Amino acid sequence: MAKVNDNYLKLPGSYLFSTIGKKVAAYAAENPDKKIIRLGIGDVTQPLTPTIIQALHSAVDEMADAETFRGYAPDLGYEFLRKAIADNDYVARGCDIAADEIFVSDGAKCDSGNIQEIFSTDNKIAVCDPVYPVYVDTNVMAGRTGEYDPATGNWSDVIYMPCTAENGFAPELPKTVPDIIYLCFPNNPTGATVTKDRLQEWVDYANKNGSVIIYDAAYEAYISEENVPHTIYECEGARTCAIELRSFSKNAGFTGVRLGFTVIPKDLKVDGVSLHSLWARRHGTKYNGAPYIIQRAGEAVYSEQGKKETAGLVAYYMKNASYILNGLKDAGYTVSGGVNAPYIWLKAPNGMTSWEFFDYLLTTANVVGTPGSGFGPSGETYFRLTAFGSYENTVEAVDRLKRL
Ligand SMILES: Cc1ncc(COP(=O)(O)O)c(C=O)c1O
Repeated sequence: MAKVNDNYLKLPGSYLFSTIGKKVAAYAAENPDKKIIRLGIGDVTQPLTPTIIQALHSAVDEMADAETFRGYAPDLGYEFLRKAIADNDYVARGCDIAADEIFVSDGAKCDSGNIQEIFSTDNKIAVCDPVYPVYVDTNVMAGRTGEYDPATGNWSDVIYMPCTAENGFAPELPKTVPDIIYLCFPNNPTGATVTKDRLQEWVDYANKNGSVIIYDAAYEAYISEENVPHTIYECEGARTCAIELRSFSKNAGFTGVRLGFTVIPKDLKVDGVSLHSLWARRHGTKYNGAPYIIQRAGEAVYSEQGKKETAGLVAYYMKNASYILNGLKDAGYTVSGGVNAPYIWLKAPNGMTSWEFFDYLLTTANVVGTPGSGFGPSGETYFRLTAFGSYENTVEAVDRLKRL
């Protein structure tokens, strides 16, 4: 008789976005005349730029001609895209990463969820608290996290690294040494970053202890300050301890188009086994390659015009971010993020919990954000607003908050 993977049964319900959706729908039904502004979900709102659209169109045309038609893409990605990524994101920054160390995929969500498969289920993971939930939930599915404690919202076998106002929302090196360390900078949900020196400490720690860092740099394009590393490979020794995840979603607006990549240096070995080889095997067995048309669009992101247009998109969202950040500061809120990331992390006022503040904002300002407690216990009493809305809506939402 078939049996299910009962690790799935341990997962608590995904209450966060469904609860938000239900509350907003109920409020909207009762108040049809109110204009609700949604600054909750991390999805982009601006269209793909002209250079990307043109690349998509011409790749579609190639598919209509027997001479230029393409079938299955190479499992690991087309050479033209892997090379563009290696040259622009790594070599141009002085990092020693080659095209054959890039694995093209359909996005960082899948990669961040799938990467744990190449590690033993005995490995102990460490995550930031608050955290992008995919890292934890996929390890739960794999049976790596122990038991769930509903009172704390924590798993018994996971090392949590609190990110609080006291440590500037950047975790401390854990005292119990993890085997796998998930880091995400610029961070979702807090919008925090680390300096290069600080990231170097993590790389040194991982190399010393034989840990592997899974570094999610999905928001790299939003870095505006000097001394914030754009890739973990800017750090000495990262080739022997770090895997990096990247996405085209947030820089080029590919959330619906789907494209990302993982970098695994060939020097990265665990017990003498190359993780590059394991991931190549996994990718080749379970994945049939990102579509040709989409990879051509990804290549166009690295063209001179593509880079300009992408910078324009990022600037658009960052204008929203600074409007939110400054507006809320003026209104007396305690806020952070929003400088190197499209997320603003604010402290709920007057001792409110994250959900109390959610309800308060929804009903008084008709603005939707995300309760920080949904990302982990250290997120309690915090709230995330995103800069991915339209400028007009962002301005209106902030002005409403200021008037409260
Ligand atoms: C930290 C982080 N990593 C990965 C992703 C997913 O990116 P993609 O659209 O490439 O799957 C997100 C999306 O919100 C994210 O916040």
